[in-house]
Amino acid sequence: MAHPTYGLNELREMFLKFFETKEHLRLPSFSLIPQNDASLLLINSGMAPMKPWFTGEEEPPRHRVCTCQKCIRTGDIENIGKTARHGTYFEMLGNFSFGDYFKRDAIHWAWEFLTSPEWVGLEPDRLYPSVFAGNETTPADDEAFAIWRDEIGIPEDRIFKFGKEDNFWEHGSGPCGPCSEIYYDRGPEWGCGKPGCTVGCDCDRYIEVWNVVFSQFDNDGEGHYTELKQKNIDTGMGLERLACVSQNVASLFDVDTVMNITNKVSEITGAKYEQSDKIDVSLRVITDHIRSATFMICDGVLPSNEGRGYVLRRLLRRAARHGKLLGVDHPFLYEVCDTVVHENEGHYPELRERQAYITKVIRTEEENFAKTLDAGMKIYDEMLAAHKAQGETVFSGADAFKLYDTYGFPIDLTMEMAEEEGMTVDEAGFRALMEEQKVRARKAREALGDLGWAGIEFGKDMPATEFVGYDRTSEQGKILALVADGELRDE
Ligand code: SER
Repeated sequence: MAHPTYGLNELREMFLKFFETKEHLRLPSFSLIPQNDASLLLINSGMAPMKPWFTGEEEPPRHRVCTCQKCIRTGDIENIGKTARHGTYFEMLGNFSFGDYFKRDAIHWAWEFLTSPEWVGLEPDRLYPSVFAGNETTPADDEAFAIWRDEIGIPEDRIFKFGKEDNFWEHGSGPCGPCSEIYYDRGPEWGCGKPGCTVGCDCDRYIEVWNVVFSQFDNDGEGHYTELKQKNIDTGMGLERLACVSQNVASLFDVDTVMNITNKVSEITGAKYEQSDKIDVSLRVITDHIRSATFMICDGVLPSNEGRGYVLRRLLRRAARHGKLLGVDHPFLYEVCDTVVHENEGHYPELRERQAYITKVIRTEEENFAKTLDAGMKIYDEMLAAHKAQGETVFSGADAFKLYDTYGFPIDLTMEMAEEEGMTVDEAGFRALMEEQKVRARKAREALGDLGWAGIEFGKDMPATEFVGYDRTSEQGKILALVADGELRDE
């Protein structure tokens, strides 16, 4: 029996509404920029901004909360565009309990939402749960297993047991615990066909749609676990993955709202989707990266050479290079921004409010990179030819560093280009040169200090400034200090 299909925006609303009927407080997505959490560059899951509510350090606005959270994960960046389910930007649907309900309700509601004809209405016999198999420190989750078998009625042989890698959720430090996942079987036509291909296989047949974490430990980031004061629920369901399943489409790039962005990229570049694998990868990389960039800039990230600013710069530069591969030789990413805003503004109205600003940031970064991209590509081709002439399969760290330092090529861009030629990059050599450069820069700064220039102290004791540029274009300010003639002057 086929299931009904729903648009991505509809599914988001359905999820939030469903959990409101279960007395959850619906909260808007938190910013992509973590607040008071040095362990993360960018928010990567629904629970990340709520850590103090899990640990009990802070009182939540309600003990049941549901959100649709903007997330960025760049760990699998090289897979983007090549698989059905990887993206750097995605939205995570989540229902959370802070010391309120636990395994039983979380499992029942997950099942009800996915299978009830009133809600998503997926076919129950295509769904497979998994539970934690246990290890030397944490016992097998017999309780979750029994709920699936005895209360939901799933036969034992359809419930999978996996180890820590799959069924124990943690991300850096913070609340974590064993989890129960729900996989959807898209059918053998999506499978790898290898013997033993089943739930948990890395191919595109069995898609993990939901992860229900029984969050009961706190990881100090060094692998030490302590029992949390309260037992919590942290669930996460990738909205694009759910839409992919609901809409019976090949990948998350074929989901309605995402496809509309790809169509816009096609319109601008003239590159048609589904004509060659290579073109598809470029179209998907651009689509994914422009989504990430738009949301990151909207939340206040600016391209830079450090931290999250560098994540943004890498995404924009990689997307720009894929534009080049599609034959575009002028800045164009900023033009796609309007479609990203259009597809998402219903749930994220701030995108439209900040659109002019976002577009300007993207365009400026594109124009800056365009100045060095062509020259850099020429040098890269020469370097590549020289390595090949020597019969080498490793692109040197020194060359990768020169491309970075002189032409602004992020290392993963060089790695991707080398990989296309069947080569690898000496990343360790590159990093060593980066480190040397940092030491040189530090020494230069210290030398500046030796000159007695008061600027080195400048700002040290200043209060933080508040950025108001999203809401106003003019504002009163107060000069707190001045440096003149090498001297720090008071007001
Ligand atoms: N934290 C879990 C995840 O990210 C569930 O929300 O998958």
